[in-house]
Amino acid sequence: MGTPRGNKSYISLGLKYRRETGAAELRVLDQRLLPAEERWLSAEDPAQMGHLIQELAVRGAPMIGVCAALSLACEASRGANAEQLRASARMLREARPTAVNLAWAVDRLLALPVERWIEEAERIAAEDIALCEGMARNGAALVAQGERVLTHCNTGGLATVGVGTALGVLRRAHEQGKAISVWVDETRPLLQGGRLTAWELGRLGIPYRLVVDSAAGMLMARGEVDRVLVGADRIACNGDAANKIGTYSLAVLARHHGVPFHIVAPRSTVDRACPDGAAIPIEQRAPDEVRGPWAPPDAPVYNPAFDTTPAELITSWILDDAVLSSQDVAEGALRTIEP
Ligand code: MRU
Repeated sequence: MGTPRGNKSYISLGLKYRRETGAAELRVLDQRLLPAEERWLSAEDPAQMGHLIQELAVRGAPMIGVCAALSLACEASRGANAEQLRASARMLREARPTAVNLAWAVDRLLALPVERWIEEAERIAAEDIALCEGMARNGAALVAQGERVLTHCNTGGLATVGVGTALGVLRRAHEQGKAISVWVDETRPLLQGGRLTAWELGRLGIPYRLVVDSAAGMLMARGEVDRVLVGADRIACNGDAANKIGTYSLAVLARHHGVPFHIVAPRSTVDRACPDGAAIPIEQRAPDEVRGPWAPPDAPVYNPAFDTTPAELITSWILDDAVLSSQDVAEGALRTIEP
């Protein structure tokens, strides 16, 4: 079944992929257990991968696209037929609705004969690393010495195969000796900031302080935030951007306090078929993610996992090959981004 010549392996913070002779192997770090436990799970079966993506064991827009593609590569390497592979791909494509990177990666495979899926999936993984490098380079150039940057959710090596999106920018600025410090939003309800971003920043030795999400306004009012950097799960052609719930509130606060607010994302997050934020599907998740031991067990819950920030609140879009201004975006720059 179209196995390319030579060995291939990718080892990142949250993923281990290896193809030598025979079936390819894929393991992922279970992000539900971090930071308490570092448990690696086998994830060669697309049905299992679909479940891990839905449960957020594997998460972050670029990462779920790469993992879906690599699990299909594993299935192809085991000799699955075209019908099976295409059915698995269609199932994975639906695993989560908001991050366009998932559909983007799966559609790249579906557009090809299955004999080329292994090679294409591996190319998607390799590209993600390069896209992260581009964002890190472009974004770090904007960060000045000593800046205090606020970020939301997790956008680092766990959310991509490379250095990350917004967190990759912070990492590069830190490596450049800019003495930055980071305000990390906890990111209720699943605490991607408190659990995952804090863990990554600690490993990288980047100074940070964890804050509850609702502290952002007070910090900005006191002049303690120089910049907000966040990722995105889907960017519409007009620049509106969906990201983890709470991002919109940060953008409103940033505008009120005159703090620059940037979206950091690769080209795979730009949805050229999506005219504006109103057309972005927003994932609704289970009530139990919001109810804690403090709430009545039957408390009615509304749990949108993402919100949409209108383009007018965004200072710039830091992409892998460009930094777009409001004027660039208003003139249609996102419509012509190469896929
Ligand atoms: O529900 P999650 O944890 O997958 O949400 C992730 C985010 O919202 C990130 O900010 C986004 O994927 C962009 S960064 C890679």
